[in-house]
Amino acid sequence: RKKVTLNTLHTLHASHTPITMVTAYDYPTAIACSSSPLTDITLVGDSLAQVCLGLPSTTQLTLDDMIHHARAVSRGSTHPFLIADMPFGSYHVSTERTLANAIRLVQEAHIEGVKLEGGAEIAPLVRKLVEIGIPVMGHVGLLPQRHTSLSGYKVQGRSLDSARRLMKDALALQEAGAFSMVVEAVPKELGKFMTEKLKIPTIGIGAGPWTSGQVLVIDDLLGTWSGHKAKFVRRFANVKEARDAGIHKYVEAVRNGSFPDPETESYTIDPREWERFL
Ligand code: KIV
Ligand code: NA
Repeated sequence: RKKVTLNTLHTLHASHTPITMVTAYDYPTAIACSSSPLTDITLVGDSLAQVCLGLPSTTQLTLDDMIHHARAVSRGSTHPFLIADMPFGSYHVSTERTLANAIRLVQEAHIEGVKLEGGAEIAPLVRKLVEIGIPVMGHVGLLPQRHTSLSGYKVQGRSLDSARRLMKDALALQEAGAFSMVVEAVPKELGKFMTEKLKIPTIGIGAGPWTSGQVLVIDDLLGTWSGHKAKFVRRFANVKEARDAGIHKYVEAVRNGSFPDPETESYTIDPREWERFL
């Protein structure tokens, strides 16, 4: 398959082919997402904070943290369209600093596009980024970077006002030039409505089955940890079980002397050399 570009995503959307997106935070995962059948978009999500760095929320993640991981991902990423979240604080101070920070992600981490959380209020920033040639993915609905002011991680768009505001935000982002947007934790009816009204593809997470594509956090879908599992997560594998069992067996084998095997898992020296050495 060929490298996924904005054109590829447009073609997938036009032909109603669901767009697949998954997060990656390191080199091996980027390689996995780049092997057949590859995902369309690899996202270095700021969920990096919780699932990889052990931070309590995404608001503690710095731009330097993100760049460090995005660099590793880009080294392993070949075909998928590669985007990174702009961390909390990296697009909230000024337009100048937003542009400079997005440029750092492109130049230092080699990502192709950025994702920003927010609605109409960030539309001018989205426009600026798009104008200088950095593709932008929007992110509406539940905005984890605002979990404090939202009093937690809650489904959005459940009231008339909230649903209307969400739709307005989505249209503002599309108007500003976003090439796509993540729609997180909204009723499936709203996910479908937004997908029908927007010209650009919606990538849902907890937004029902009728969005233009789906995204999941890699650790959620692989089951690499046993933290909180949201309603919208499906575990497609149980890597935690396999990993824990592997570590357990290794420890056991070292303790009972069965690892390493002297014949097959050890090096040897010519006996005559060894005699001279002694
Ligand atoms: O940070 C992240 O992983 C995300 C996706 C879940 C959309 O923003
Ligand atoms: Na994110």
